[in-house]
Amino acid sequence: MLDVLTTPLQRLLRERKPGHSLPAAFYLSPEVFEADMEHIFGKHWIYVGVEPDVPEPGDVAVFDIGKASIAVVRDEGGEVRAYHNVCRHRGARLVEDEKTTVGNLVCRYHSWTYDLTGALIHADHMGPGFDRACHGLKPVHIRSLEGLLFVCLADEPPADFDDMARRLGPYLAPHNVRGTKVAFQSDIVEPGNWKLTMENNRECYHCGVNHPELTVPLFAYGFGFAPEEMDEHDRAEAERYGRLLTSRHADWEAAGLPSREIDELDTMVTGFRTERLPLDGEGESHTLDTRAACRKLLGDFTSAKLGGLSVWTQPNSWHHFLGDHIITFSVLPLDADRSLLRTKWLVRKDAVEGVDYDLANLTGVWLATNDQDSHLVGLCHKGAQSPGYEPGPYSPNTEMLVDKFVNWYAGRMAAHVGR
Ligand code: FES
Ligand code: FE
Repeated sequence: MLDVLTTPLQRLLRERKPGHSLPAAFYLSPEVFEADMEHIFGKHWIYVGVEPDVPEPGDVAVFDIGKASIAVVRDEGGEVRAYHNVCRHRGARLVEDEKTTVGNLVCRYHSWTYDLTGALIHADHMGPGFDRACHGLKPVHIRSLEGLLFVCLADEPPADFDDMARRLGPYLAPHNVRGTKVAFQSDIVEPGNWKLTMENNRECYHCGVNHPELTVPLFAYGFGFAPEEMDEHDRAEAERYGRLLTSRHADWEAAGLPSREIDELDTMVTGFRTERLPLDGEGESHTLDTRAACRKLLGDFTSAKLGGLSVWTQPNSWHHFLGDHIITFSVLPLDADRSLLRTKWLVRKDAVEGVDYDLANLTGVWLATNDQDSHLVGLCHKGAQSPGYEPGPYSPNTEMLVDKFVNWYAGRMAAHVGR
């Protein structure tokens, strides 16, 4: 293509140096942010929440992806549906609360009323020629992957969701998300571009120095290292970890728990990765004493010594499935400079706070870790604003997943805008 026909975004994509952080405009420019919302968040499967957000018929949860507001509803038959949260009369926002329970969805402006299947069932004074059937709520594609809810705003969502569901489903199913409740949710606004939040999540190069709580249950060796730079003691420890990983995978798989790595982070449109990792200490949970935080275990588990099943999906989520609880994270961009990080802690539905679990113990490690990460994201966003910023090299031993995230991002953007 002649250069004169190249758009600024195409030029940025061409300038990107593989294996390096992105040119600053990818993090800062409002135009790139608009393109991110249109092509990445508008055309891919976006993780928003969990079935336990809408446990009963009539329950509604609202999720905002940029300017799109989506109402997720459990209908009378128990099916989870999603609609654009926009009245079909004059477009008023239909559901204002983040969570509510309704009989029908009633617009407060002129009382147009929709049932839980989205059908318009009541609209006064519209005259004899008015066809209610043409004015139902606009559906949004939604899929539940063993209780994790993904929506897609495109008319034709990526078809490979089914492939991800088929391969990831057996890893998730034993943890029984549908049999849990949301014990706690934390929303924090990170002072940086959503891609910086994602890049930060995709590595643990920073964990040793920044996460004193998280590195109690997590083995640093699980996230890569450069053996040639380690002394004999550390090399022996890393080898011990490698043997532990192999033997635990064999044990867990023999017990019916899929555990071995699948990595499709930059090889599918609906990119994902999973692996069950051993935990340090008692090996049970992401807690400061490495023991289960909830006495009632998930699913049919009889032991909590299951390590942690980590799951990553592009472009905006990561999850840790433990024997006693689940921690699930979604990143929703607010503008080029701010991102909503939403974290939910799920425990068995019949677990009782103060009896089966202590909320501070359950949430302590990740509340602290999120705050630490948010600060780091802010530092990178500030750095990208400086004239001294230049894309820097990712570590080939510890930042492979960061590299796969930006590869996926650049590849998907190029597929939609050209390069
Ligand atoms: Fe909803 Fe009028 S805008 S009823
Ligand atoms: Fe971190």
